[in-house]
Amino acid sequence: MNRFVIEGGIPLQGEVKISGSKNACLPIIAATLLAPGKHIIHNIPQIRDIRTMLRILELIGSKVELLGHTLSIDTSLANNPYAPYELISTMRASFLITGAMIGRFGEAHISRPGGCAIGPRPIDEHLHGFKMLGIKIKEEHGYLHLSSNHIIEGKVYLNEQSVTATENILLATATQQAETHIINGAMEPHVMELIKFLNLMGANIKLKDDIIIVIGNSLHPIEYTISADYIETGTFIIATAITGGEVTLIDAKYEDSIAEITKLQEIGVQIEKVSNGIKVKMSSPIKSCNIKTAPYPGFPTDLQPQITSLLAIANGTSIITETMYEQRFNHILELARMGAEIEIEGRNAIITGVKELSGTKVMASDIRGGASLVIAGLAANGITEISRIYHIDRGYESLETKLSQLGAKIKRV
Ligand code: EPZ
Repeated sequence: MNRFVIEGGIPLQGEVKISGSKNACLPIIAATLLAPGKHIIHNIPQIRDIRTMLRILELIGSKVELLGHTLSIDTSLANNPYAPYELISTMRASFLITGAMIGRFGEAHISRPGGCAIGPRPIDEHLHGFKMLGIKIKEEHGYLHLSSNHIIEGKVYLNEQSVTATENILLATATQQAETHIINGAMEPHVMELIKFLNLMGANIKLKDDIIIVIGNSLHPIEYTISADYIETGTFIIATAITGGEVTLIDAKYEDSIAEITKLQEIGVQIEKVSNGIKVKMSSPIKSCNIKTAPYPGFPTDLQPQITSLLAIANGTSIITETMYEQRFNHILELARMGAEIEIEGRNAIITGVKELSGTKVMASDIRGGASLVIAGLAANGITEISRIYHIDRGYESLETKLSQLGAKIKRV
């Protein structure tokens, strides 16, 4: 059961509920380690990456219960500052447990995470940040041993606006009775949501221009509801656009998606904020445009593969510049098999719009690249078969069910 079979050409119609944000859930689940006690968290997406993160929390000694979309996690008895290669190597974001372990135990012993299909995914910014906080780091046999025997505080200047590096530093300092400044930190909606969660637990974290000021505190468990995933929102806006449909995205937050909404309106998509989310309609030809990915509030790299599929059948030539990753073009080779005309020159993809794509067999190699193949299949002439969809299941809850509810002909085989 790891292939999607899609018959293209059907405009998506109706409404779909956007799930909770994967990239907010992952650091928030790690943050529960910082406050011994029972946390209740609602609107958890049922996806593989969340299950991986919860396994790590259990391994550390937390009691975890996930019923539907509600998680209850009790970290009172957590006492094990070790995270093994077997779990860390399956998901880079599990490295977020490092900051939480330091914040709770004052130490962390964790395997160095691997890379993935979209690039080497280094952690130098994380380690640089920890060192600037006075945390001692030793490395041997692929394991990192971090420890601090004093209050952690200081000024951390990040060279890259790394999302998980920013989150790791927030997790390491939120419980410290001291003041820390994070300069050039990432400002994505999921970073802001982690800050909101930590403040509700009793931390005192503020933004002053582009500096995140953490005044740590002892933290208490809370009940919380995760907000909608803005990358899933963008994925469904693009799927609606490429099929010429009309869809309402329930719970979607317009204010989290300004960059991609602006670009998509430039392409000709009608997008408006409505009381229960975002309404999307596409009834005009797809215009070409140029896009450059950037840290928030720029165009999100996690929507670059998906909008590439849309621009593959636009009128005219578009240029997409992927500034965040060296190898986030794997989907382009698959789109070419569907008839797309895209030239890769370094970090640029030059897309010459074609009249239509044609269905064929293609293979997913990462979450968002897989989503771009689904989007292409929804518009392609004929049948598209996508293999290795376990990549897609890492980041999207019941994607085929949601699309079928909107009229798409897609099944998991
Ligand atoms: C987060 O990954 C997201 N994952 C990614 O989403 C997303 O693509 C990325 O941010 C950028 O927005 C989660 O939030 C769990 P980065 P992260 O550290 O934190 C360089 C998805 O599909 N860098 O912001 O790992 C790095 O090479 C995933 O949901 C360093 O050089 O990304 C890249 O060029 C895919 N050194 C850039 O920064 C470091 O120590 C962005 O990386 C860290 C990062």
